[in-house]
Amino acid sequence: MIKTAVFPVAGKGTRFLPVTKVIPKEMIPLVDVPIIHYAIKEAVDSGVEKLIFINSKNKQSIINYLKRNYELEKFLENKGREDLIDLIKELPRKVEVVEVIQEEQLGLGHAVNLSSKHILKSELFAVLLGDEIIYSDKPALHQICQVANQYQGPTLGVVEVVNEEVQNYGVIDAEVLSEKTYKILGMVEKPNLDEAPSNLIVPGRYIFNYDIFNFLKNSATGVQGEYQLTDAINAQAKNENFYACLLEGERFDTGTPLGCLNATLEFSLNKPAMKEKVLEIMAEKIKKYS
Ligand code: G1P
Repeated sequence: MIKTAVFPVAGKGTRFLPVTKVIPKEMIPLVDVPIIHYAIKEAVDSGVEKLIFINSKNKQSIINYLKRNYELEKFLENKGREDLIDLIKELPRKVEVVEVIQEEQLGLGHAVNLSSKHILKSELFAVLLGDEIIYSDKPALHQICQVANQYQGPTLGVVEVVNEEVQNYGVIDAEVLSEKTYKILGMVEKPNLDEAPSNLIVPGRYIFNYDIFNFLKNSATGVQGEYQLTDAINAQAKNENFYACLLEGERFDTGTPLGCLNATLEFSLNKPAMKEKVLEIMAEKIKKYS
């Protein structure tokens, strides 16, 4: 069982300016739930109890989201709105939060490396990128845990994407072990299509052992001049067994405004109270703009 998960959230969210001047990208709502809620819930539903946020000083609302708000709970109690109390209390009650401030944004590898002091040498731990949502009855992290347990080694979640999308992600080179599991031979960050080893990309779900920190410590800057987590994984996979698990579920990359809009539409259509009206609005827009 994985008990600890790292959430690198210090990024500046430049793709969402101007709103990210004051609101962290992770707190942008998909209808009424902030984006990061989904990855946190996935971790908690997979058995995680301790969340380590690699954060920046001016994104405190992420940490506050995971604190109890007794005043608001009392207010709702007086109004007889127990249904709403559960919504605001559920996650804070279940998790222990640790915050590590990343002073400089030097890349995902640098961010993950900052968590090393809080990880036990003997434990497997997870890293989740909050802008990716994998909507599935079986939480994605739990699916990866099962494969990590089966093969007793670090394991990544992967999904298949179309050719045009490969260049935006970390891509694995892999040997097939079974229908949904692979042994990783290498990994490359944001390759051109002609250099991509496969169409299997990593949608921000990782289970590591402590060895990743040795490879992070020794890695140089890579694509975009940043310390890439992918480069450390590539080095580890060339030295040790490293696995991948093809994830079940519908994936939303909310890292761009369009991706965010797509997820917003999906989650609004999932709400029985909104569905009809949203379809009506969409039909009107199609008529107006096509
Ligand atoms: C990061 C990782 C990349 C991964 C992606 C998932 O890239 O570096 O390997 O596939 O997240 O969204 P970013 O989206 O930060 O450019």
